[in-house]
Amino acid sequence: MATTKHVSSPKPFLTFLNLLIVAATATTASNKPVVLMISCDGFRFGYQFKTDTPNIDLLISEGTEAKLGLIPVFPTMTFPNHYSIATGLYPAYHGIIMNKFTDPITGEVFNKGLDPKWWLGEPLWVTAANQGRKALTYFWPGSEVPKGSWTCPKGLCPHFNLSVPFEERVDTILSYLDLPKDEIPDLMMLYFDEPDGAGHNYGPDDPRVTNAVARVDNMIGRAIQGLKKREIFDEVHVILLGDHGMVTNCDKKTIYIDDLADWIKIPADWINAYSPVLAINPRWGKYVENPAEKNAELVAKMNEALSSGKVENGEFLQVYLKEKLPKRLHYSDSSRIPPIVGMVGEGLLVRQNRTNAHECYGDHGYDNKYFSMRSIFIGHGPRFRRGKKVPSFENVQIYNVVAEILGLLPASNNGSALFTNNILSQFGKTGEVK
Ligand SMILES: *[C@@H]1O[C@H](CO)[C@@H](O)[C@H](O)[C@H]1NC(C)=O
Ligand SMILES: *[C@@H]1O[C@H](CO)[C@@H](O)[C@H](O)[C@H]1NC(C)=O
Ligand SMILES: *[C@@H]1O[C@H](CO)[C@@H](O)[C@H](O)[C@H]1NC(C)=O
Ligand SMILES: [Zn+2]
Repeated sequence: MATTKHVSSPKPFLTFLNLLIVAATATTASNKPVVLMISCDGFRFGYQFKTDTPNIDLLISEGTEAKLGLIPVFPTMTFPNHYSIATGLYPAYHGIIMNKFTDPITGEVFNKGLDPKWWLGEPLWVTAANQGRKALTYFWPGSEVPKGSWTCPKGLCPHFNLSVPFEERVDTILSYLDLPKDEIPDLMMLYFDEPDGAGHNYGPDDPRVTNAVARVDNMIGRAIQGLKKREIFDEVHVILLGDHGMVTNCDKKTIYIDDLADWIKIPADWINAYSPVLAINPRWGKYVENPAEKNAELVAKMNEALSSGKVENGEFLQVYLKEKLPKRLHYSDSSRIPPIVGMVGEGLLVRQNRTNAHECYGDHGYDNKYFSMRSIFIGHGPRFRRGKKVPSFENVQIYNVVAEILGLLPASNNGSALFTNNILSQFGKTGEVK
């Protein structure tokens, strides 16, 4: 229940407004703002039009939506993006520069591991815990890493296990809303691994992806019903989003590194990743005096070959020294990023040679300028206006939005402090009271 406050103002109208403000910013269940963030992995913007999605539609019609979707960070991969959403940092600054990578300096391999040394920055659950609040994560990438006051307590932070049914994930989260007032988490972050799985296996246009979208919508419905049953649907801030989109790729659209051999030979063991991001870490050996110069030469030779018109699909790959990548990608300022990065055209593949052919499937990780890499953002609850559409924005803005709703002091990050004004009203539902 909302607490009543002694109001000394003699003006009845102001008194009425004050009461409204108190009523709207409190949560019946707990007297405090609560955020439930739900991520649907690989929910490409536009999937909501594939089939009936009554539950997502409800959040959209009663909440605030990024009209043309949420812009992921580059590379548009799951771990970098979930951790950018959590920290407000571009991957160069939060350290998870790809799902899997080799540190060019130490040679150590990151492969979604939990060693805290990889995970830089301050994710929301740490910000909350450090400021005496309670956070709960359900499979959010990075949340099992101990950091600050966050120890990933059993129960509040289950061990990543994709066999746990979606229903169980939703019901577990809902059960925390039945706790005594002062034990209800302030922040809950829930992760679904669909429709990403179906999108990879079959490509985004397959009917099985449509089924996965319907299934996810159904789970959103389960969450909404649970909140409604507890009479707190209009009081909890529900943020529904995804990390990136999905696009079809096929054998027919492949660039083969061995086809560049007339210009430059690049050994397979210099290549850490082929596509959607080509990551090259040349090993010149100790007798080469100026590796930076050799790297620049290699990039020039590769681009000469690719633009010669003689390399199949060459026009769809452009190679850069990482310092020369377009600034909008924010993908240079980390020693973990390999010295040479190739930007692969939308839906294209890069392979060493023509062995190991495969058929069409789906992938993501490409330049975040492509519309196919966008995901969704919908905010519903007291601080989000009903039926509002906002222009697309990058997911590094979300950290500040959640910090603002919860009244947390944000750690330094790459979001803009002013952005929260674009998307949040100042006082809960009183935003509508004119
Ligand atoms: C993962 O979850 C499934 C389904 O709940 C369960 O049967 C299995 O034991 C879990 N695996 C681990 C390693 O906890
Ligand atoms: C093709 O490239 C792979 C590495 O991607 C390598 O293991 C294999 O030996 C190469 N095959 C030929 C015929 O060069
Ligand atoms: C991103 O934020 C980090 C941490 O505050 C800062 O060091 C870095 O300069 C920022 N980068 C950009 C491009 O804003
Ligand atoms: Zn994926």
